[in-house]
Amino acid sequence: MLILGIESSCDETAAAVVEDGRIIHSNIVSTQIEEHKKFGGVVPEIASRRHCENIYGVVEAALSEANCTLADIDAIGVTYAPGLIGALLVGTSFAKGLAMASGKPLVPVHHIAGHIAANYIAHHDLKPPYLCLIASGGHSMIAEIKDYTKFSIIGRTRDDAAGEAFDKAARVLGFPYPGGVHIDKAAKEGNPDAYKLPYPKVTGSEYDFSFSGLKTAVINTVHNSEQKGIPINKNDMAASFQHTISEILVSKTMAAAREYGYKTIAVAGGVSANSGVRELTERRCRDNGFKLYLPPLNLCGDNAAMIAAQAYFDYLDGKRADESLNAVATLPLDNI
Ligand code: KG4
Ligand code: ZN
Repeated sequence: MLILGIESSCDETAAAVVEDGRIIHSNIVSTQIEEHKKFGGVVPEIASRRHCENIYGVVEAALSEANCTLADIDAIGVTYAPGLIGALLVGTSFAKGLAMASGKPLVPVHHIAGHIAANYIAHHDLKPPYLCLIASGGHSMIAEIKDYTKFSIIGRTRDDAAGEAFDKAARVLGFPYPGGVHIDKAAKEGNPDAYKLPYPKVTGSEYDFSFSGLKTAVINTVHNSEQKGIPINKNDMAASFQHTISEILVSKTMAAAREYGYKTIAVAGGVSANSGVRELTERRCRDNGFKLYLPPLNLCGDNAAMIAAQAYFDYLDGKRADESLNAVATLPLDNI
């Protein structure tokens, strides 16, 4: 079954053709990062406009690279939630138009479910149930993947998402948006023990995250040393920050796996590209005897192949949308 996936929830306009949720025929991503960089973050209005301009060409490129036309496609999957509302509306409106004109079924896809499905493309042996750490620019959570379309959230962020914390720490260190990848690069040259950063305490649920205290600690350390005229060692701070956030993400995931009895772990979302997070998860999974699945770097960030992959499983589960489909800015993964 061939699915055309469409993604426009943030600053990437993307389209892909994926077979049976696992095999990529094409995967086109048009990023707007250069344009948002000068503002230090995504400007929603600009994102919507660029999606409008790009979406037709991106979808056409995805079909042509897959050597097919719309007639060969069995269903259209589109991200409808969560994300920037104006950005989501471009993808959903375009997909609705395409589905109506072609008579193909339309499948509404949750963006985070898409991130999770990225691992199905890379690892054909990965099957639920398993535990997944999801860390992206907008979300951080630990979820039980009970089935391809059934999720139960064990822990979630109380404030900033992991990617957001990376980007804010990067900003105060003078790196351009999005800063996560720059922290990753700088951390390779730094000493992770150089700066002592706090491990935030979260009362209530031991699997919830809180990153705002960590972010504030980075900001305060940088400002204090500026006031004293002592230059901050950017590489050391990047390494210390990455070490601390990786430790928080990974140790909670390992503890959750032990308590809930999972031996298979996956990681998903933009932050799963982080080398510190990847190395620490690999090490801890090996120590605990857990099997680990990490997405390849090209499927960690936003793309439409993951949306087409999840659309396949949603389609099999009977999920369909008609022309009344609306975009939704906020929608918990366990409420779809
Ligand atoms: O999943 P994603 O592409 O978009 C959302 O759905 O939010 O995640 C984007 C986030 C950004 O905060 C970005 O800085 C972060 O993922 N990111 C990284 C790395 N690559 C992307 N963070 C740390 N290290 C990286 N290598
Ligand atoms: Zn994303």
